[in-house]
Amino acid sequence: MNITVFGTGYVGLVQGTILAEVGHQVICVDVDAEKVEKLAQGVIPIYEPGLEALVNENIQAGRLSFTTDAIAGVAHGDVQFIAVGTPPDEDGSADLKYVLKVAETIAEHMQAHRIVVDKSTVPVGTADKVRAKMAEVLSSRSKDSLTFDVVSNPEFLKEGSAVADCQKPDRIIIGTDNAHSVEVMRELYAPFSRQHEKIIVMDVRSAELTKYAANCMLATKISFMNEIANLSERLGADIEAVRQGIGSDPRIGYHFIYPGVGYGGSCFPKDVQALVRAADAIGFDAKVLKAVEARNYLQKTTLFEKISQHFNGELAGKTLALWGLSFKPNTDDMREAPSRVLMEALWNAGAKVQAFDPEAMEETQRLYGNRNDLTLCGTKEAALKGADALVIVTEWQSFRAPDFALLHQQLRQPVIFDGRNMFEPVRLAQKGFVYYSVGRQAVGIS
Ligand code: UDX
Repeated sequence: MNITVFGTGYVGLVQGTILAEVGHQVICVDVDAEKVEKLAQGVIPIYEPGLEALVNENIQAGRLSFTTDAIAGVAHGDVQFIAVGTPPDEDGSADLKYVLKVAETIAEHMQAHRIVVDKSTVPVGTADKVRAKMAEVLSSRSKDSLTFDVVSNPEFLKEGSAVADCQKPDRIIIGTDNAHSVEVMRELYAPFSRQHEKIIVMDVRSAELTKYAANCMLATKISFMNEIANLSERLGADIEAVRQGIGSDPRIGYHFIYPGVGYGGSCFPKDVQALVRAADAIGFDAKVLKAVEARNYLQKTTLFEKISQHFNGELAGKTLALWGLSFKPNTDDMREAPSRVLMEALWNAGAKVQAFDPEAMEETQRLYGNRNDLTLCGTKEAALKGADALVIVTEWQSFRAPDFALLHQQLRQPVIFDGRNMFEPVRLAQKGFVYYSVGRQAVGIS
């Protein structure tokens, strides 16, 4: 099948590549000429396990290509995916200008029936807007006789396992009431829905809301657990025991109930906020979602509070070793990363940061440049040297079994602030550390 994907961000690039991998002919269109040129040479702008090899394989097989030529893109695909960004505008609503621009481009250049698929996370009602925009352009060009359909097909991939998620989706949501579009989308996704039926067909608005509901539900689980973790700390309980205790109930489940330093990334913060704004706009007060957002905002400050309290508010001149900058492991993405809130608070308090991350060093450099209160270290060990304490913000695998003797040697004081509950408090106390974690009692304080 011939497919065109507009937008080569996370979603567009991964989706386009995976569709090429199963044999479809895919053209990816982007307005960023520099990015397109690199992609055409098989160089990808993000860190995502397995993706670069797959992009190269499919370019070489002649199934995947990249271009800035939107006209060629519109001519190519029977199915036209819109996978461009929907950044929050000033008030947190999703900004649809890029989505509508692509809709306009498709309508301007199409010469035959097109199925336009919204892959971007877009507010309920966007498909209607895309439809209206296309109808308007077609009519202004006297092309009213051309037919098209707009389908909602939200993406659920996770950064860090995007390729695997896309290859083995839990579900494929197809939102349309057009029987022909359902047939075409079934054929397109048939390779992914062979062993088990993954395709769920529904109306467009429900499909659009499904995406937000999924992300908001997951964000709710996290904020709920973070709230219980705060209570647990104050009530003398251990959140890890509580987590196992509640997770064993299949109605609750073990997934996404890990307390931490708050959710970050490109999706949860943006999507919760966008749904709150969408609700506000129709006069509905989304109380649960607002609380989810408020808890997350506060949770990102908890590590700083613990550090500040430990040092009696005297952080000026202190140096903190920081392990983990990306918002979660296996990505270099620092969008809405809790590490940023922490570093900025530490700097404001006059402290210095010596940071290490397995993948996000370049991104940190890009974001913060050369500041004299930030040292970017080549290894996790180098970050420890002469620091007053270690702070762990992201749970990279390579942080799970540190050389504790070296930690004792390199840190000025054996103090660890752990935002991800990586270690057993009893063990750390035995090893002579002062150890703060999330939702558990601090240990080792004399
Ligand atoms: C998320 C959704 O999982 C995905 O389905 C959707 O398409 C996009 O948004 P992603 O943002 O890549 O994916 O990351 P995810 O692995 O879901 O983690 C999101 C955030 O929640 C991270 O900051 C993570 O640290 C945090 N988190 C996750 C917790 O704090 N506790 C948990 O139990 C799980």
